[in-house]
Amino acid sequence: MILKPMVRNNICINAHPEGCRAEIRLQVGRVKAVRDRLTNLGKNGRGTPKPAHALVIGCSTGYGLASRLVAAFGYGADTVGFSYEKEPTGTKPGTPGWYFNKEFDALAAETGLSAQTFSDIDAFSRAAKEKAIDAARQKGFQYDLVIYSLASPVRTDPETGALYRSVIKPIGRQYAGRTLDVFTGKIAEATVQPATEEEIAQTIKVMGGEDWALWIDALEAAGVLSPDAITLAYSYIGPSFSWPIYRDGTIGQAKLHLEKTAQALNERYRATKGLRAFVCINKAVVTRASAVIPVIPLYISTLFKVMKERNIHEDCVDQMIRLFSERLYRKGDAQVPVDAEGRIRIDDLEMGSSVQNEVSARLAKIDESNLYSLADPDGFKSDFLRAHGFEVPGVDYEREVASFE
Ligand SMILES: NC(=O)c1ccc[n+]([C@@H]2O[C@H](COP(=O)([O-])OP(=O)(O)OC[C@H]3O[C@@H](n4cnc5c(N)ncnc54)[C@H](O)[C@@H]3O)[C@@H](O)[C@H]2O)c1
Repeated sequence: MILKPMVRNNICINAHPEGCRAEIRLQVGRVKAVRDRLTNLGKNGRGTPKPAHALVIGCSTGYGLASRLVAAFGYGADTVGFSYEKEPTGTKPGTPGWYFNKEFDALAAETGLSAQTFSDIDAFSRAAKEKAIDAARQKGFQYDLVIYSLASPVRTDPETGALYRSVIKPIGRQYAGRTLDVFTGKIAEATVQPATEEEIAQTIKVMGGEDWALWIDALEAAGVLSPDAITLAYSYIGPSFSWPIYRDGTIGQAKLHLEKTAQALNERYRATKGLRAFVCINKAVVTRASAVIPVIPLYISTLFKVMKERNIHEDCVDQMIRLFSERLYRKGDAQVPVDAEGRIRIDDLEMGSSVQNEVSARLAKIDESNLYSLADPDGFKSDFLRAHGFEVPGVDYEREVASFE
């Protein structure tokens, strides 16, 4: 059959197997092209100047995948990855991350890198932690980098079996904002009712730091965490007009909990070990998770236009190359630069006042008639489709897809 993207309301329900494989090969090529720049580092005096054994929780798409690509193909790290993806059936393609994982493993093997991928194990479970511990013990290594990059709508508590759901809602008052369907170019008003106390608490359970800390404690207790390991969880701040729905909303509460968890982990381990835990604030990019947040597609489309005009546009891979080389593993300097709250900032280009002022000015006058001159919905659309294996350069989409494998 010929596979076309099936998209509604910024959600794509299928994926193109060959397109996904081609997309990740292109991304690996980009990382390999800067490998010399990344690994040509002096000893920083604090032990490991680069990641050697990385664990990536949420490894199959978005920021987790980009982190894993940079650790492996940029720095030559052995990687273990966890994600929750669906494999294909005889009649239906798998989810994009399933293909990305498979191709990652194949490319790692070709490059002589050790990689182990768990495509469909619930990272919130105890079983996942045990698998990560076994993987390290079998090969006799300790993790020196642990990236926590989950974006999930649900979490089952491993102790109680209770199911928690995360929601993206404002707190205290209803939120009204404009949202963009990048496939039709239609801008519509979206109204979201405020969250209940229960919804806030459940979102913190899913997207907060509780599970991150469980991972670190489990790895440490099993002796598979390197004494000077770095662990990161990703977060977003964004422009103030989005705060009612994001930073000051349910998800922002969960992100604050992540920040408190980073502090708690540092306090727990710093005295006896060298573990360093950071929340890293990344820039807005198109991923399966970000496409469904109200107001974000319109904001990202405008941001893309402005950043592309200034030649400072970045996607997940660009962000992670900069995070690793200019924050985590800097030549001759073990200090990781952080802001006043101890967070790593890699959203600096997005949040620069000149970019933000220009984006705000454009958003104030944007409508359907000037959308394509003031913003870049096609750039959003292209990134979104490529995240599902569609519109990837070099792939013949008129060719029959014989198998979903
Ligand atoms: N997208 C953005 O613009 C943006 C910006 C800044 C920060 N972030 C943050 O980055 C992190 C990752 O987000 P993303 O946008 O890359 O999302 P994504 O949807 O592309 O990736 C989420 C990953 O989590 C995995 N996952 C989800 N539930 C799981 C489970 N139960 N068990 C195992 N794996 C599971 C998925 O398989 C996937 O690998 C989030 O914390 C997000 O808030 C995103």
